[in-house]
Amino acid sequence: MSETAKLIIGDETYELPIVVGSEGERAIDTTSLRQDSGYITLDPGYANTGSCKSAITFVNGEKGVLRYRGYPIETLAEQSSFIETAMLLIFGELPTSQERADFRTLLGEQEFLHTDLMHHFEGFPASGSPMAILSAVINSLGTFSPDLYDVVTPDRFRLAAAKLMSKVRTIAAFAFRKSIGRPIIYPNTKLGYCHNFLHMMFSMPYQIFEPRYEAIDALELFLIVHADHEQNCSCSTVRMVGSSEANLFASVASGICALWGRLHGGANVGVIETLQRIQKGELTVPECIEKVKTKQIKLMGFGHRVYKSFDPRAKILKRAAHKLLAAMGHKHDPLLAIAQELEDAALNDPYFTGRKLYPNVDFYSGIILRALGIPTPMFPVMFAIGRLPGWIAHWNEEFRDPTTRIHRPRQIYVGPHVREYVAIENRKG
Ligand code: SDX
Repeated sequence: MSETAKLIIGDETYELPIVVGSEGERAIDTTSLRQDSGYITLDPGYANTGSCKSAITFVNGEKGVLRYRGYPIETLAEQSSFIETAMLLIFGELPTSQERADFRTLLGEQEFLHTDLMHHFEGFPASGSPMAILSAVINSLGTFSPDLYDVVTPDRFRLAAAKLMSKVRTIAAFAFRKSIGRPIIYPNTKLGYCHNFLHMMFSMPYQIFEPRYEAIDALELFLIVHADHEQNCSCSTVRMVGSSEANLFASVASGICALWGRLHGGANVGVIETLQRIQKGELTVPECIEKVKTKQIKLMGFGHRVYKSFDPRAKILKRAAHKLLAAMGHKHDPLLAIAQELEDAALNDPYFTGRKLYPNVDFYSGIILRALGIPTPMFPVMFAIGRLPGWIAHWNEEFRDPTTRIHRPRQIYVGPHVREYVAIENRKG
């Protein structure tokens, strides 16, 4: 007999099955709760609610553990590439060298955008948010491949995944070039994934940009650590939209919109803005800490719904920031020094440690992006490029799961009781 939980309501006792995951996580399965008891659960923000079973990513927030398909993030950051990590997340296994070569070829074939799609960029103001552009153009991408709205066969899914993975860079780079009034630079299929992106971002028609290998390595690592993070807000959005059988392009476009928020993928912008305010002398570190403690501001890049200890990605990115800046000769980027000072002040203050607030993935990521020459408004876009394989993997896992049901949460209604309609001439203001 499998383990159960007993729920006692009045004179009734309800037995609910316990579900145990492969890493020992335990859940009370409430699938039959309303039907058996008439009760629902209420959990604003879903802090205690699992939406699905998934075999993609495992996070232990108490121990600071993050694994993609069982591989520790530290190992992948050290030894893998972004494309290999993306294939691991999407297809479930580390690729053989032939599989990786074949996927790279497919990515190379998918780098360009249809010329009709290029007109989209003309429709946005130069100051338009690159996240709005990215979401709009990704959704439009699907209209050029309506046959890929249905990806039942593995080959069609693989092609759709490759199109998204490859073109997301081109769209992001073109949006950046448009925003600064520079001619777009077409992808060069001879370059690797990250090198090609930096080429499209920073080359000029008369001068090819040759990034240092340390910059390419830092971008690879940045994308690897952002590649997935189980049921975060944007991934849950992709799964929510996909659960209605909406296509992969529409679901990913929705995930981009969810990621845009300051509490999620937009936090890396907030971190840099805070560091720059301190650098300009508008705020000191102690004043910043005081404003946080008196709840005037949140410390962006700190805190996490799941990590109640150090986010392993923050440790990796902090080391990478130091390494990249040293390699580029900016040993003392003032913002990195301020970030360290802010971290030290917070981690020595019971307000933060008492609430288990530690640096998260966003606290040091912006330092790396700045060192790569990527402007602040593009930071959430970089997060989206990294997170894309995770969104694709989760959409596909849900799409192929025969037990998937459309996401339709319940609610507890707290509005007015039934009322009589009053004709407008009889209404009193
Ligand atoms: C990402 O979910 C994921 O996996 C996300 C992500 C991923 O890879 O997809 O890891 C990426 O989004 C990382 C988080 C980026 N966001 C930020 O850095 C924004 C700042 N952080 C907070 O807004 C907050 O920590 C959240 C949104 C990340 C988590 O919010 P929770 O879990 O709802 O926490 P909470 O608001 O209930 O906070 C609990 C307490 C509260 O204080 P009290 O009411 O108990 O007095 O901690 C405080 C909060 O006020 N608190 C903070 C804080 N975060 C929480 N106080 C100051 N600064 C903060 N950053």
